[in-house]
Amino acid sequence: MRSLDLPTDCSPVLKPSTNPKFGDYQANGVMAAAKLLGKNPHQLAKSILDKADLAGIACKTDIAGPGFINIEIDTNFLDELLNHDETETLRQQDNETVVIDYSAPNLAKEMHVGHLRSTIIGDCIARVLEYRGNTVIRQNHMGDWGTQFGMLVAELESHLGAGEKAELALTDLESFYQKAKKHFDEDPEFADHARTFVVRLQSGDPHSRRLWKQFIDVSIAHNLEIYKQLNVSLTLKDVKPESAYNDQLEPIVEKLMRLDIAKDDQGAKVIFIDALANKKGEPSAMIIRKSDGGFLYATTDLAALQYRSKDLKANRILYFIDARQSLHMQQVFHAGRLAELVPPDVSLEHHAFGTMMGQDGKPFKTRTGGTIKLARLIDEAIARAEKLVKSKNLSLSEPRVKAIAQKVAIGAIKYADLSKTRTHDYIFDWDGMISFDGNTAPYLQYAYTRINSIFKRADLDLEDHSSVIIITEATEKKLALKLLQFEEIIEQVSVDCYPHVLCNYLYELASVFMSFYEQCPILRQDISTAKKNSRLELAKLTANRLASGLDLLGIEVMSAM
Ligand code: ARG
Repeated sequence: MRSLDLPTDCSPVLKPSTNPKFGDYQANGVMAAAKLLGKNPHQLAKSILDKADLAGIACKTDIAGPGFINIEIDTNFLDELLNHDETETLRQQDNETVVIDYSAPNLAKEMHVGHLRSTIIGDCIARVLEYRGNTVIRQNHMGDWGTQFGMLVAELESHLGAGEKAELALTDLESFYQKAKKHFDEDPEFADHARTFVVRLQSGDPHSRRLWKQFIDVSIAHNLEIYKQLNVSLTLKDVKPESAYNDQLEPIVEKLMRLDIAKDDQGAKVIFIDALANKKGEPSAMIIRKSDGGFLYATTDLAALQYRSKDLKANRILYFIDARQSLHMQQVFHAGRLAELVPPDVSLEHHAFGTMMGQDGKPFKTRTGGTIKLARLIDEAIARAEKLVKSKNLSLSEPRVKAIAQKVAIGAIKYADLSKTRTHDYIFDWDGMISFDGNTAPYLQYAYTRINSIFKRADLDLEDHSSVIIITEATEKKLALKLLQFEEIIEQVSVDCYPHVLCNYLYELASVFMSFYEQCPILRQDISTAKKNSRLELAKLTANRLASGLDLLGIEVMSAM
C-alpha cells in the first residue's frame, strides 16, 4: 500500500479469516482506502496484489466481493517459521519505562474482593509488558494515611498498654478494626484521644509514628501473604504508600496556586475544570486542600504523578482502578498536565474495570451483606478445587491433590476475571470457574497436562524434544497458524491492556489443538516416524505457548494432574 503512495493512515486491516473459505488471512481495509481516494475498490485491490511480494509466503490470493483480499498461506512458509521458531526472533522488543499502579488496598482493613480485580488485571499487564522488554515499575499505592489511622493507632496503644504484642493484637485485622470502631463510637474519651492521634501523626510525633508504623507493617505483611498465595508478583519493594508523598503535598498545592490553576474557594483550594463540566455546564471541582488545611486523596495522586514522571522517568503510567474512580483519574490527569507535573509525551492511562457481582447481580457480598475477605475466598476456592481434582483422578496422593488444587484454585479465580472484558461488571460464579469444561483455567491447565502425558506415553521428554515440522493436514495448518499468532496477541494486550484477548487466544489454541489431536493421531503404530515427530513438535510448541500464555496471566501449569 505504501508503494502505491496510499495515505499513511490507510491500514490494510489484516486479520485471520473467520472462515476457511476466505483463506487464512483477510485484508479488509481496501474498501475504506478506495473510498477515501475515490477509486474503484476492486481495481485498487488488484493493484495492491500486483505490487505485493508474497512469493514464498502465500500460495494463493484472490479478491472477493467488492475488494476483500483473501490470502492463503503457503504451508512451507509455516514449516519454516516454526522450525526455526522464528517467533523468538520476530518478537519485537519495546523499551519503555512503564509505571503500573495496581492493587493498592487500604491498610486499615483486611484485603477484600474489592481489590481483587485491580490486583489480578494489573499483575497480568505488568507481566505482559515485561515480556515485551519494557522496564516495568510496579507501584502499590497502598492507603496508609488518613483519619481512620488515628482511631486504629489509639486502639493499638490501649492493647499494647495492656501488655499485648502488636502481632497478636493484629492477627485478625478485621476484628481489630471493628473493636476500634466500637470503642470510638461508644467511648467519647477514646474518640477524643484518637483525634489527637490524627494531629500528632501529621506533625510527626515519634510515639504515634512508632505505633502507626507497627500497625502498617503488620497490615502490609498480611497483604504480602495474600499476594504470595495468589501468585501475584508484587513485593515489599513495590509498596509506595500514600504517606510516602506527605512532604510533596504542600509544595504541589503552592505550585498550583502560584500557576493560578487552583483557586481559593471558601478557604479550600480547588481546581475547577471546565473540560470535565457536568451536563449543566458546571465545571468539575477538584479539592486539593480542605479549609482545615488537610490534604486529599487527589493531592496525593498529583504528587504520585509527579514522582512517577520526574523521578521514575516513566514513558507510560498505567492505573488499574475501578471504573467508579474514572472522574477522579480524569481530574488528576487534567490538573497534572496543566501544571506540567508530567511532560506531554508521557502517556497517562486509566484502565478501568467493572464491579464483581454476586449471582444475584448485586455487588459480591457475604450472605449477611459484609465484604468478602480475600483470605476466605482463597480458602474456599482451594476446598472446591480439591474436590474437582479428586473427581478427575482418584489415584493422586493427598499432598499431590493439595499442591494441584492450589494452582487450580488460583488459576480459576484469576482466569474467570481476566477472561471477561475488563470494562464490564462480571458475575462471580464458583461452578463456572472451577470446572474442566468451557473457557476456564482448569480446562487450559488440563490441556497442558494432556500434552505432557502424550510425551510420557512415548517415553520422551517434552523439553528436550526437537524435530522438523512438515505440515500436510488442514488441522495441522490451523494449529500452526494459531501458534504463530502468539506474539501479535501479546503485543495487542501490551497496548490495549485487555487480558481477555490473551485468554480467548489460549482457549482457541487449546481447542484447535484438541481437534488436531483427534484428527491427526500421533503415537499410532501406522504413523511414520517423520510424521510422528512433526506432530510431537507441534504438540510441544502448543504446550510451550499455553504455559507462557498462562504464565503471563499469572497462572501456573503442572505436568500431571
Ligand atoms: N486505595 C485506593 C482504594 O482502595 C486505590 C488507590 C488506587 N491508586 C491511586 N493512585 N489512586 O480505592
